[in-house]
Amino acid sequence: MTVSPRPSIPSILPESAPFTPEQRDWLNGFFAGLLSLEDGVTMLSPEDSAALMENLRAGGGQAQPKGLLDDGDDGEAPWHDQTLPLVDRMQLAQGRPLRRRMMAAMGQQDCGQCGYTCENYSNAIAERSEERLNLCVPGGKETFRTLKKLAEELAAPPATSAAPAAAGAVVVKTAAQPAVAAPAEPGRSRDHPATATLLARSRLNKPGSLKETWHIEFDLADSGLDYVVGDSFGIFPRNDPALADAVLRAIAAPADFPIGGRPLREVLIDAVSLAPAPDMLFQLISYITGGERRQKAKAFAAGEDPDGDAETLDVLAALEKFPGIRPDPEAFVEALDPLQPRLYSIASSLKTSPGRVALTVDTVRYAVNARRRLGVASTYLADRAAPGDRIRVYVQKAHGFGLPADPAVPVIMIGPGTGVAPFRAFLHERMAIKAPGRNWLFFGHQRRDYDFFYEDELAGMKHMGVLTRLALAWSRDGEEKFYVQDRMREVGRDLWAWLADGAHVYVCGDAKRMAKDVERALVDIVAQHGARSIDEAIAFVADLKRKGRYQQDVY
Ligand SMILES: Cc1cc2nc3c(=O)[nH]c(=O)nc-3n(C[C@H](O)[C@H](O)[C@H](O)COP(=O)(O)OP(=O)(O)OC[C@H]3O[C@@H](n4cnc5c(N)ncnc54)[C@H](O)[C@@H]3O)c2cc1C
Ligand SMILES: NC(=O)c1ccc[n+]([C@@H]2O[C@H](COP(=O)([O-])OP(=O)(O)OC[C@H]3O[C@@H](n4cnc5c(N)ncnc54)[C@H](OP(=O)(O)O)[C@@H]3O)[C@@H](O)[C@H]2O)c1
Repeated sequence: MTVSPRPSIPSILPESAPFTPEQRDWLNGFFAGLLSLEDGVTMLSPEDSAALMENLRAGGGQAQPKGLLDDGDDGEAPWHDQTLPLVDRMQLAQGRPLRRRMMAAMGQQDCGQCGYTCENYSNAIAERSEERLNLCVPGGKETFRTLKKLAEELAAPPATSAAPAAAGAVVVKTAAQPAVAAPAEPGRSRDHPATATLLARSRLNKPGSLKETWHIEFDLADSGLDYVVGDSFGIFPRNDPALADAVLRAIAAPADFPIGGRPLREVLIDAVSLAPAPDMLFQLISYITGGERRQKAKAFAAGEDPDGDAETLDVLAALEKFPGIRPDPEAFVEALDPLQPRLYSIASSLKTSPGRVALTVDTVRYAVNARRRLGVASTYLADRAAPGDRIRVYVQKAHGFGLPADPAVPVIMIGPGTGVAPFRAFLHERMAIKAPGRNWLFFGHQRRDYDFFYEDELAGMKHMGVLTRLALAWSRDGEEKFYVQDRMREVGRDLWAWLADGAHVYVCGDAKRMAKDVERALVDIVAQHGARSIDEAIAFVADLKRKGRYQQDVY
């Protein structure tokens, strides 16, 4: 007998789906939640229904009458704070359901790099619809190790990145489909990239700057991609060939050794991460060494730090600790992590730059023990990719970061450094649609004479009245550091007046320190100018967040 789902839950599963009424009810509710169908139900197309059914049969086929997500935990948690160390987050999450403890292990930024929000990624792992435990870039190895440990609590733990790949499939350690299948259309998710052509890059800092930040443009014409302001752009980078060559020398392997039908050197350049050294590499080294060297390799593999330098070990530095080893090239590649894409906030609007996307990219370069280390994606975009190159890319839809639907609503944008990127896009968009809402940008960087990104453009938009106010903060021009939040405090009364007029507040840039400090400043401003206690001001800002009036794009 077929029983209809509860009236409040839209029926998403086809009537023919082989589930009990309870299973059907739960699954309909679950997918309605995931697909955000509460407001305005859109039935799945026959194709989507078929794909969903296939997915359920393949992985989630053992539909559970009492769903994993039905554990009564509302997710309200003090550990959802990217500035807390992982160990503290795990402590605060003790006693929570497994999926919540997994979530506590995530970088907590909802940055979208894994292709999910932190919550959806943890749910997907807990439900065993996502096998990859190494997708959280901000969390790095620490998150991976914690997830691996937590995954032992699953009845049948998913494969980890430590699992050897099938022969001939070493390049990318693929996984089961995510709980919500990634869009299969090319360029709409990290699992299905498209290609776009690098058009041009220009340096945003003037000579003499201590920073190296580039404005980078891509032509999207061939990719058929579009985006809205607030979205991010994913780039599949390539490693520095010189680093790949140094790794080849360290393991004394021939560059043309065939790996899955491709030369080893190519695989090292475009398929595997050469930093940081994964636990599995040390495990492999422990198999092919003996005595003290084996003990040391085992210690590194277990996450210990026998030499006090574990944090600095990329793949080459790890190999240099064990000179003379000759791992089998195929086993070596299998021990490495896949090379992950990197996200960049989109700094353009299709309305003013049709067929193009612009990014604002800070180049990561630093030295460890006299060897220059290069951020793989930022230096790929700054140095190694050439205009005309076709690069694998995708558009990452924003998770709750975008302009208000009503163009009359005022917006306050706080974006020091590369944090200005999405706000350039917002301003272009609002200029193009002649939005009547007021726009206030807080920008800051090290020194005005060298690091004033898009200065002429911002001045032009101010002149035109698109940019109502531009507030600047130069951290290294004076005796003391002066940051955007210091400027916010100075103009707190006006800021409060904008808030009282319904302004939306946006923050973009550094997650670890800036975002937290800016939020603190806003709380102080609300308390001082809104005549509230600190606790009331905290609740006020929390309410802004809940209402989507305080949005962050931080990394
Ligand atoms: C949603 C989102 C939007 C983003 N938008 C932008 C943007 O608009 N512009 C932008 O520039 N970036 C942006 N990023 C960050 C970007 O994705 C990359 O993380 C960044 O470019 C670094 O990547 P990389 O591959 O060059 O460096 P990686 O190879 O990933 O190396 C970076 C790592 O190197 C290490 N490191 C860096 N500096 C040092 C140091 N001085 N000493 C020791 N170790 C160090 C750190 O472990 C760091 O994690 C965004 C990220 C997200 C998630
Ligand atoms: N993990 C880190 O320690 C760290 C630090 C900085 C940047 N980053 C990362 O580096 C990447 C690119 O950075 P970016 O080029 O956008 O610029 P940035 O290095 O973030 O600097 C932009 C401006 O923000 C200032 N700043 C530093 N700390 C701040 C704080 N607590 N509150 C407000 N402003 C602060 C900087 O000042 P000063 O530099 O003069 O202090 C500078 O004027 C980002 O991914 C960012 O997350 C990481």
